[in-house]
Amino acid sequence: MTDIEENLFSLSSETFLVTGASSGLGVEVARALSRQGASLVLTARRKERLEQLAKELPNATYCACDLSRPEEIDNLWRFCDQEVGAITGLINNAGVAVVQSALEESDDAYRSVVELNLVSVFAMARRFARRLIDAELHGVVVNVASIFGLVGSGQVPLASYASSKGGVVSLTRELALQWAKYGIRVNAVAPGWFLSEMTEGMFSDEGAQRWIAQRTPLARPGRQGELDGAFIFLSSKASSYVTGQTLVVDGGWSIL
Ligand SMILES: NC(=O)c1ccc[n+]([C@@H]2O[C@H](COP(=O)([O-])OP(=O)(O)OC[C@H]3O[C@@H](n4cnc5c(N)ncnc54)[C@H](OP(=O)(O)O)[C@@H]3O)[C@@H](O)[C@H]2O)c1
Repeated sequence: MTDIEENLFSLSSETFLVTGASSGLGVEVARALSRQGASLVLTARRKERLEQLAKELPNATYCACDLSRPEEIDNLWRFCDQEVGAITGLINNAGVAVVQSALEESDDAYRSVVELNLVSVFAMARRFARRLIDAELHGVVVNVASIFGLVGSGQVPLASYASSKGGVVSLTRELALQWAKYGIRVNAVAPGWFLSEMTEGMFSDEGAQRWIAQRTPLARPGRQGELDGAFIFLSSKASSYVTGQTLVVDGGWSIL
């Protein structure tokens, strides 16, 4: 076995910054990357949650940040520069969803979803890449998109969410093109339905559960752990020749 085969999924020499690490998918991703040996910086607004997860995982620290506030994003990166050192992986996972008819959704509500789900993804990626380029280091970005960045939902009105996630898919492609020459790969994961704070309303509603099961070719929502492989693949050397892609993990939802 060559070195590259042995170490294909190892992240033991990498430090990842994971956003939205206080609940749901962010906690799962942090745990999965940690199992592969990554050091971690966890961020979100709820500090107590971050503190708890940082205690659970080896080589993990945290810094609370409201990603809708540029000055807080700057503070977060200042913390990384001063307390952590080089960040070589960025998981842009934080997100919010507003479920509302487009006729009812205010411009401000729309703007605040796009601000967090898309503008902050750009702001984080730009600060990350700037540091890597200046330090002549290579790195990876994994953005969290959604099936609703690729296809319409038909049942759940999600104008701001769907457009922000469509933006994440395009931004992923564009940043991959601009930064390939620096050895920075940029990919995205587009999950289907997974239980989290964001989706608990759907999971506690029998009609919604039935709809998800009937509408999904694999006939069920995603289970805990079923996104780990996608994140580990895109974060590690296993995907060293992959950039600009959106890996869909949705039980077949988006192919129907
Ligand atoms: N669950 C699904 O089925 C599904 C499907 C497709 C895509 N996704 C995407 O997966 C990502 C994670 O969502 P989730 O399902 O795990 O939902 P979740 O449990 O609600 O997690 C959202 C995370 O984002 C953080 N966040 C929200 N607003 C923030 C802000 N202003 N500044 C910083 N952090 C903020 C939250 O932390 P604080 O509240 O502590 O700040 C939390 O950690 C999102 O991008 C979502 O769109 C989820």
